[in-house]
Amino acid sequence: MMHEPQFSHDFIRTLETLFSWRRDVRHFKKDPIPDVILNHLLSIACMAPSVGLSEPWRFIQVKTPKIKTEIYDLFKTTNKEAAQNYTSEQQILYNNLKLSGLDDAPHHIAVFSEENPTQGMGLGRQTMPQTTAYSTVMAIFSFWLAARAYGIGVGWVSILPPQHVKEILKTPDHWNFIAYLCVGYPQFTQDTPELENKGWEQRNPKRKEWIIR
Ligand SMILES: Cc1cc2nc3c(=O)[nH]c(=O)nc-3n(C[C@H](O)[C@H](O)[C@H](O)COP(=O)(O)O)c2cc1C
Repeated sequence: MMHEPQFSHDFIRTLETLFSWRRDVRHFKKDPIPDVILNHLLSIACMAPSVGLSEPWRFIQVKTPKIKTEIYDLFKTTNKEAAQNYTSEQQILYNNLKLSGLDDAPHHIAVFSEENPTQGMGLGRQTMPQTTAYSTVMAIFSFWLAARAYGIGVGWVSILPPQHVKEILKTPDHWNFIAYLCVGYPQFTQDTPELENKGWEQRNPKRKEWIIR
């Protein structure tokens, strides 16, 4: 058993800076990330909590250029369809957003969650089966934050139809699609969300207030 670590005030301040500078990144440099770092980020992701210690996350590194292109094409089609659901005025703004880094990110990582893993023996999810997906999201967030600490950007792409992604990646039926991540060194860094900078949406200060019951 290791000694319990003491976290200094300086460390806590730095950690808070990491939280505030974590960004969804959509503009990447082409330079690849060394395998040793990518593997390390995956091992940090696996430190995440999971319901019943089920570790339901399944990380796929998509390396085949043809598959990457298929996913990017699928995104473009889906994104075009998504734009149709806005007014013509909103469409002008929407079409000005870059909603994925699939074109330039050197690494594509698809994340799935096993629906009913034997690991964990069902503990904690008899009442809330969705907790396996929640556990996988915890792993993604750990990956995301750790990546930022290493100067690496992560962008979450959800503008993809899950069934189609599953077919392209030939995943088992009982794996739920959770996220498609673009990963690489960012072209630039910013301390405010891109959607805010582009005038789409802004953080609501009310969300920092407790709701009391
Ligand atoms: C579940 C989830 C899905 C997301 N899907 C997309 C997406 O498809 N495209 C995109 O550009 N950003 C996506 N994002 C990123 C959000 O737009 C981003 O987190 C938000 O605008 C706040 O910006 P920040 O992450 O830089 O703080 C997603 C984020 C989450 C958590």
